[in-house]
Amino acid sequence: MCHADIPGVAAIEEVSQFTPWSAAQFGECLDSGYLCDVVLARGEIIAFQVLSAVLDEAHLLNLGVSPSWRRQGLARGMLTMALQRARQEGATSLYLEVRRSNTAAMRLYRALGFEETGFRRDYYRARQGREDAVLMQKNL
Ligand SMILES: CC(C)(COP(=O)(O)OP(=O)(O)OC[C@H]1O[C@@H](n2cnc3c(N)ncnc32)[C@H](O)[C@@H]1OP(=O)(O)O)[C@@H](O)C(=O)NCCC(=O)NCCS
Repeated sequence: MCHADIPGVAAIEEVSQFTPWSAAQFGECLDSGYLCDVVLARGEIIAFQVLSAVLDEAHLLNLGVSPSWRRQGLARGMLTMALQRARQEGATSLYLEVRRSNTAAMRLYRALGFEETGFRRDYYRARQGREDAVLMQKNL
């Protein structure tokens, strides 16, 4: 991902999340040196992910696939690459948080070997009230 990609990334984020990241947040991740990837199809951004890796810990901070490109293995492919990259950077664990209602993402993470390690009660704003964050981890 580079700064010119941010409008395309933010457009996917906007249609994917109840509380989407702003374009500025994606810019800060790039400026901080996080591992930020996009997938392109005919020059158009169709998926992205943002990962931080510090010492032995990596965190998946964001991941999104354009609605018309879902269920074609893009997220699985991006995450598989992210696991390899995090390992190369010296990480021994990859952590993430996911809304309890996000069954699609949780199935994806479980399929890749992530395990639930806990939850943060009422962590996210939701359409009606609040919603728990489920914490997941994979040893690399
Ligand atoms: C979650 C998301 C990233 C998955 O992307 P994707 O490219 O469609 O996922 P993949 O095609 O790689 O799916 C891999 C596996 O995940 C699971 N999965 C993905 N989407 C699913 C769905 N809608 N329902 C059930 N399982 C699903 C399946 O196990 C799937 O394997 P299969 O297709 O062989 O059954 C995508 O739905 C998305 O962008 N959602 C909105 C943003 C989001 O929730 N991001 C994660 C925040 S934590």
